[in-house]
Amino acid sequence: MRLLITGAGGMLGQDVCAAANRAGHDVLGLTQGELDITDLGALARTFAEAAPDAVINCAAWTDVDGAESASDAALAVNGEGAGNVARTAAAHGAWTIHISSDYVFDGGKRERYVESDHVAPLSVYGRSKLAGEQAVTAASPERHTIVRSSWLFGAGGPCFPATMLRLAAERDEVTVVDDQVGCPTFTGHLAAALVALATRARPPRGVLHVAGRGACSWYDLARETIAAAGLACEVRRGRTADLGRPAPRPPYSVLGTERPGEAPELPHWRDGLSEYLTATVPAR
Ligand SMILES: NC(=O)c1ccc[n+]([C@@H]2O[C@H](COP(=O)([O-])OP(=O)(O)OC[C@H]3O[C@@H](n4cnc5c(N)ncnc54)[C@H](OP(=O)(O)O)[C@@H]3O)[C@@H](O)[C@H]2O)c1
Repeated sequence: MRLLITGAGGMLGQDVCAAANRAGHDVLGLTQGELDITDLGALARTFAEAAPDAVINCAAWTDVDGAESASDAALAVNGEGAGNVARTAAAHGAWTIHISSDYVFDGGKRERYVESDHVAPLSVYGRSKLAGEQAVTAASPERHTIVRSSWLFGAGGPCFPATMLRLAAERDEVTVVDDQVGCPTFTGHLAAALVALATRARPPRGVLHVAGRGACSWYDLARETIAAAGLACEVRRGRTADLGRPAPRPPYSVLGTERPGEAPELPHWRDGLSEYLTATVPAR
């Protein structure tokens, strides 16, 4: 199949391109410099020339705190840009796989969020991702899959485990919040699932939750990362309120699915962490 990957220079985009190439597909991965999803004309030219069967939209504004003071810019990419991709894909008969986020939820629940749960984003970023879901659904009602995932980490970009490894190498102790709980997701695992979804004869339509199995707090993830890398650094429990970050985060955003059989199941986040460390930490 011919697959177009937008945001191909990003953490997830790189792994999606690699997974699609490994699976033997005809892959056109374009970075922001090569295809800006806010540019409808550029999208139309790309689809006309490349004629992809499906597009996997990995392009996004992902600076969660920065979005609080740049809401127009975040919405332009995550809302309108996502709609542009889906509209152009629909016009060319291509399926859209769009990536969304657990941050569309407010975190008030204490059991896994499923696809039909009430959305109530707390932050500008979360609202922009919800706007993207709505724009994709409106632009290509019959030919889209929205994949909500969470807490991504991977070799292709800055991510939480990378930050922990750097801090643990520099300090004797780090403080990490234990009052946010979610599903860490290895981009290598998510990427393979996205490619498998995009290349199904008939991908499932609508929203799917796809995240690493299990759940933990950022504190738990920090401890596991530092211990698995064999670093001696104490991890202390912190509280989100003490960080004073501009964007509020959901305290609980564990994803589950009410569409078993349609939503791909990913390996446990610990397996993802192990693969991540194998790929990024030399001589373990
Ligand atoms: N990271 C997470 O924890 C997380 C959690 C849940 C969902 N997600 C979603 O997963 C997807 C992938 O995220 P990621 O972690 O891979 O983020 P990322 O590394 O920041 O990748 C996003 C990519 O999009 C590109 N981009 C930004 N604006 C663009 C535009 N107007 N046109 C085309 N490309 C543009 C960026 O280019 P530049 O590098 O040039 O800026 C970057 O390469 C996003 O939809 C994100 O919302 C992420």
